[in-house]
Amino acid sequence: MKRNKIVTLTVSPAIDKSTHFAGLVAEQKIRCETPHFDAGGGGINVSKAIARLGGNSLAVFTVGGASGELLEELVKKEGIDYKTIKTKSWTRENFIAVDTLTNAQYRFGMPGPEITDDEAQAILTALEETKPDFLVASGSLSPGLEDDFYEKVATIATNIGAKLIVDTSGTPLERAIDKGVFLLKPNVGELARLVKAESLEINEVDDAAREIINKGKCEIMVVSLGAQGAVLVTKDICEHIPAPPVQKKSTVGAGDSMVGGMVWALSAGKSVSKMLHWGVACGSAATMNEGTQLFKQDDVHKLLNWINTYGEKYQIRNL
Ligand SMILES: Nc1ncnc2c1ncn2[C@@H]1O[C@H](COP(=O)(O)OP(=O)(O)OP(=O)(O)O)[C@@H](O)[C@H]1O
Ligand SMILES: [Mg+2]
Repeated sequence: MKRNKIVTLTVSPAIDKSTHFAGLVAEQKIRCETPHFDAGGGGINVSKAIARLGGNSLAVFTVGGASGELLEELVKKEGIDYKTIKTKSWTRENFIAVDTLTNAQYRFGMPGPEITDDEAQAILTALEETKPDFLVASGSLSPGLEDDFYEKVATIATNIGAKLIVDTSGTPLERAIDKGVFLLKPNVGELARLVKAESLEINEVDDAAREIINKGKCEIMVVSLGAQGAVLVTKDICEHIPAPPVQKKSTVGAGDSMVGGMVWALSAGKSVSKMLHWGVACGSAATMNEGTQLFKQDDVHKLLNWINTYGEKYQIRNL
């Protein structure tokens, strides 16, 4: 069997159904344009981003019912290798609609599938059978899964010798890092919660990240700051890369694109500083496209050029 250097896990994937309409009016039928269907969910988006950069990954995700079959078709169309775990509960469908009169985007997210204990165990077994260099666990947990699910994934990552990258929030994130992971990509709000702070200013981010690193909970942290770029913190370095100036259309998928860019760069043997550049370039390139579309490879290369030319000027300090 082909060995994928990168495996992504999505326990709560979705079909993202996007459309446009003109005018949001209660009690009346709102006519929508022909919808566009995308495979969605944290890990699947990361796999899509890797594919867009010309890389390979194995996407491990749950599927249930007819919507699950559609999800599998959509992933197959993207040319991504995948492995599914069947759930009795149907794959969820999210709905994203843009009002063409105001350009406002409405995002309706459905709850993930109810996952039974046997199904949860099947997900863990499927991961145990993979032998990647990098395992990416991304997205929210589904109902039925305990908060310590990603902690169990962390134990498996150690057992199979994979470096674990976690992108989630709340208690599942807190529990995931109890075992210690390789890389975390919280946004600033998620980091604040991890260090039990109400909020964090940019100049407090490095100390907060270092607090987590010094406790042995992760080796590398990339804290994303939306339009302000991202900060990379390890035991030895702290670097800030600003986001390049872009014409922002939609920030949907920016975080997943960033993680995709970073793990691809790592798997290609790039340094952690270059990994940060690729992450910021992919995240910002994703904001240049509408709706759930991720990024165009051309845009990533243009933004990387900008970062290489101007980005380093903004570096806060090397510790
Ligand atoms: N408005 C923006 N302009 C330019 N770049 C952006 C913008 N928003 C996000 N990005 C890029 O995407 C990266 C990740 O964005 P962000 O910090 O919003 O992640 P997130 O909160 O995890 O997002 P998500 O909601 O997708 O999980 C940023 O570091 C930046 O490079
Ligand atoms: Mg995020």
